[in-house]
Formats: sequence, C-alpha cells, structure tokens
Amino acid sequence: MKLSVLSLFPGIMRGFFESSIMARAVQRGLVSYDLVDIRDFANNKHNKVDDELFGGGPGMLMMPGALSLALEASGAPGPRVVYVTPGGRLFNQAYARDLAKEENLVLLCGRYEGIDQRIIDKYVTDEVSIGDYVLSSGEVAALAIVDAIYRLIPGVITGESLDEESFEGGLLEYPQYTRPAVYDTLRVPEVLVSGHHANIEAWRYRKRLEKTLLYRPDLLSGKGLDDQLRQLVQEILDQRGEE
Ligand code: ADE
Repeated sequence: MKLSVLSLFPGIMRGFFESSIMARAVQRGLVSYDLVDIRDFANNKHNKVDDELFGGGPGMLMMPGALSLALEASGAPGPRVVYVTPGGRLFNQAYARDLAKEENLVLLCGRYEGIDQRIIDKYVTDEVSIGDYVLSSGEVAALAIVDAIYRLIPGVITGESLDEESFEGGLLEYPQYTRPAVYDTLRVPEVLVSGHHANIEAWRYRKRLEKTLLYRPDLLSGKGLDDQLRQLVQEILDQRGEE
C-alpha cells in the first residue's frame, strides 16, 4: 500500500513511519509512504495557506490553492482521499478493514478551522473522525487511522494475533497473563494453567462477553444473538446483579 499524508506539519508523523513495526513493513516493501508538506505548494510570497472565513466566523480556514496542488501531486482525483476531521464519519475497525484494501490512500490533515468546502467536494471521498473529541492536530488523528490500517495489510502482523484482538468478532479482548504465575500474591486464573484447551477457550469467550457487556454494550446490541449466546449474556447479567 502507498500512503500519502498531506499536512502542514509532516514532522509530527515522521517518527512513526521510521519506527518499529511500520519501519519493518516499509523495509519489506509492504508499505510505502510520502509525507507531503502542503506549504511547499503555496505559490504566494509568504507561503500563506490560510485565510478568514467568507461570511465571518472565528479562526482561519485552509485555502484551496495549495491543497489542490498537493492533492493532484499525490494522484487525486483517483485514489481514495480521507480528510481527517472531527466533522466526519466515525472511524472503527470495520472502516479500517475497508481502507486497508486500497492500493493507494491519501490522508489529508486539517489545521485551523478546517479546509475550504470546494476541496472536499472536488477531491475528498471520505471524511473521517476518530472520536467524539477535538484534537488540535489532524496529524495525531491521521496517525491513529494509519496505524489501524497498515497493520491489517497481509504480512505486516501475523493473522492469529489479529483474529483474537478487540473488535474482531464484535467483542472486546479477553484478559491476558504472563509469567510469573503468582505475582505479589496475585494468582493467574487456574483455568489458564490447566492445559485444558476447550476450557481455556470457553473462559476466554466468557471474559470477552463480560468485558463487552461492561464497557461496550452497544457492540452487542447490533449483533444477532443466538440462543446459546443469549443465555450466556443473561447468566453474566444475573451474576452481576448478585455481586
Ligand atoms: N481533528 C481534530 N479532531 C479530530 C478528530 N476527533 N478526528 C479526526 N480529526 C480530528
């Protein structure tokens, strides 16, 4: 996958692309990337990229000129162009899986009050928010999106660790333990050291359900529950009521 990230502060992102799992994916040719400084495309004397709003209002807006040149230098219109904005559709794991299929992906980071609507109309295919809060920097949101996407590209991370993590199968992840088996008097759950794989699997599934019911019941309400699952959910709720 080729990732182009357009920003006024590409330096914020460089460390991510040059470190750890991403650096390895780049080195192995699974990912290539281009960090584009939008200001390089401002063809005015002071490299000005923003201006006041027509109609009035607080703050400054990014002007269309430099943005459109930067986008076209990255191949737009054509590839999917994700504009990272708190005013977009909410990002989630399914969205990450969908974007991970693209050969070419352009991410556009806004600053100030955002970007001129004509750029959105002409080039942007997806307006995406990472959550119901406002960051000062679209770059941080773009990195979250890049991180969620690239690790789903085949070969970047082994399949097994992807299958069992939070959101896969619509549930949060089960609790995990490593050595020592007793830490400061706290013991690892007995079932995990029993060697009984079916019991371990059943325990983990129940824990995923318990955690999802506690923190994210909304994930379950969108799911078709079969009788067995419905019974397990009821059991957990009854148990919680007794505690
Ligand atoms: N820019 C600022 N806040 C954001 C958010 N929550 N999601 C995406 N981009 C943003």
